[in-house]
Amino acid sequence: MKTLDDLLGEGVSGRRVLVRADLNVPFDKKNPGVISDDGRARAVLPTLIALRDAGARVIVMSHLGRPKGEPDPKFTLRPVATRLAELLGSSVVFADDTVGPEATQAVAELQDGQVLLLENLRFNKGETSKDDAERGAFADELAKFADCYVDDAFGAVHRKHASVFDVAARLPHYAGGLVLKEVEVLKKVSEAPEQPYVVVLGGSKVSDKLAVIQALLPKVDKLLVGGGMCFTFLKAQGHEVGKSLLETEMISVCADLLEQADGRIVLPVDVVAATEFSVDATHDVVDVADIPADRLGLDIGPKSTELFASAVAGAKTVFWNGPMGVFELAPFAAGTRGVAEAITKIDGFSVVGGGDSAAAVRTLGLDESAFGHISTGGGASLEYLEGKTLPGVAALEK
Ligand code: 3PG
Ligand code: MG
Repeated sequence: MKTLDDLLGEGVSGRRVLVRADLNVPFDKKNPGVISDDGRARAVLPTLIALRDAGARVIVMSHLGRPKGEPDPKFTLRPVATRLAELLGSSVVFADDTVGPEATQAVAELQDGQVLLLENLRFNKGETSKDDAERGAFADELAKFADCYVDDAFGAVHRKHASVFDVAARLPHYAGGLVLKEVEVLKKVSEAPEQPYVVVLGGSKVSDKLAVIQALLPKVDKLLVGGGMCFTFLKAQGHEVGKSLLETEMISVCADLLEQADGRIVLPVDVVAATEFSVDATHDVVDVADIPADRLGLDIGPKSTELFASAVAGAKTVFWNGPMGVFELAPFAAGTRGVAEAITKIDGFSVVGGGDSAAAVRTLGLDESAFGHISTGGGASLEYLEGKTLPGVAALEK
């Protein structure tokens, strides 16, 4: 696999370099247009700076959210261009379309050492199409803009999308530093984790995590389950979970996993049970055996946080994906904070796997440098640990 360093070694001054970044950043729900966590933009800066400073004409492309294949102002990348310019300390040209007249003109006018951001890739049907020809036609248009392609969008390498998969087949292609680093870390954790190895999983759905649980169970000493997904496990253990999130069709699967795990899956022993999904909801800590029928669990309780923290304490390797509760709402943030703090204290290597958990680390004001690695890809890192082939990485290897 060729890398950004190889490309820089070849010399990029005056060359048009198409860079796939994952600038799919979260926005503040109360202040539209305000980015709540710019971690993904910061993570790709070294690549953009290296290319800019070497005199390349840098054409950056990304998706944002999940628009439906046509322009939708809710998902414009314009605010991200502004933030990117602040972070780069130099101007960023923004094109109001992705491969249309605006983009074409902006590419033609781009100067050496300048950075251009194209509008959201997913405003075009071809980007995510399942039809190879439709994706290919869009990839052709993107590829026309440049002489070579750098993929540094680790968060999107698990997607077989035009900008991730098909463009690589059309241009000389190179892996960016972020993709290389992420793959190196995940390879180490999945192939040779130093023992004891503890995995902490949260987030809302068991169904999303089923494959990774099955892949990890044979490798881990303990698998701690919090977040919305713990309630289907608790139900499988025979507890009533009130109005908590429950995937009824997954109960028997959870029961099987618990049996297979032979005590290595650790569940909460208490939860914060609220009257409704709201920051103002009445809420109390209850044991998992006593969740009232009219309440829903929105965080793990203090006894569980302590239980999880002590399970993490002796680990040499920890992988964490998914918050323990609704950390965005202050009354339900303590579980995520407590477990995250315990992870920062281990005498070993910790990996925060992606999107929500990485955002949680920063939103809760935890020290990022206290973790071994904070991944920019939630879905991508889980699929890597499942042992799946990542289309974006496979395309770079060809
Ligand atoms: C993510 O946030 O998970 C990545 O940016 C990929 O986005 P997607 O899940 O919408 O494909
Ligand atoms: Mg995703």
